[in-house]
Amino acid sequence: MIVRAAGAGDVDAIVLIHAACFALAWSRASIQSLIDDPHAFIYAAEDPFGQMVGYLSARDVFDGYELLNVAVLPEHRGRGYGQKLIDTLFSSLPQRVPLRIYLEVRESNESARRLYERCGFSVFARRERYYPDTDEAAFLMVYVTPQEDGWSGRPS
Ligand SMILES: CC(C)(COP(=O)(O)OP(=O)(O)OC[C@H]1O[C@@H](n2cnc3c(N)ncnc32)[C@H](O)[C@@H]1OP(=O)(O)O)[C@@H](O)C(=O)NCCC(=O)NCCS
Repeated sequence: MIVRAAGAGDVDAIVLIHAACFALAWSRASIQSLIDDPHAFIYAAEDPFGQMVGYLSARDVFDGYELLNVAVLPEHRGRGYGQKLIDTLFSSLPQRVPLRIYLEVRESNESARRLYERCGFSVFARRERYYPDTDEAAFLMVYVTPQEDGWSGRPS
């Protein structure tokens, strides 16, 4: 299992993985603009044969990062790719700088919520009727780096 930074040559694979993992498609142009955005980044997970099977996307926010998506092809789930993608994000964080990583996840998405909790994210808010396609609630989660003292459990 390899996780590496994604580049311009990975756009088609990311489009396919996104379409296999989410009900709402991401256009090729929006993935391309994320790859081109200096404030965003994407990691690609490859299987032992070099096929991309998952990706993680994130971008800078005012006091850290927003995790936009983690996605692994259905037939490759349960093998640690999701965990490895998040571990790679954590290991790329600047050392000795306190920061937070935010994300939002559907209430019904139990496998993603378990993954995030296992990685150290915790829920700080619940938003009713957050997703217009299903009207379901979102959990807002945050990971706080150990360098940040005095964390109250809520973003300031
Ligand atoms: C959420 C998602 C990214 C997780 O990816 P994944 O590669 O299956 O994640 P992992 O393999 O690290 O962990 C999944 C499970 O497999 C287990 N697992 C990992 N490696 C394993 C191994 N070698 N042997 C047995 N089980 C293993 C984990 O313990 C975990 O168990 P759990 O579901 O009981 O918590 C994937 O389900 C997905 O793409 N979902 C659709 C998109 C989505 O909803 N993304 C999140 C919102 S953006």
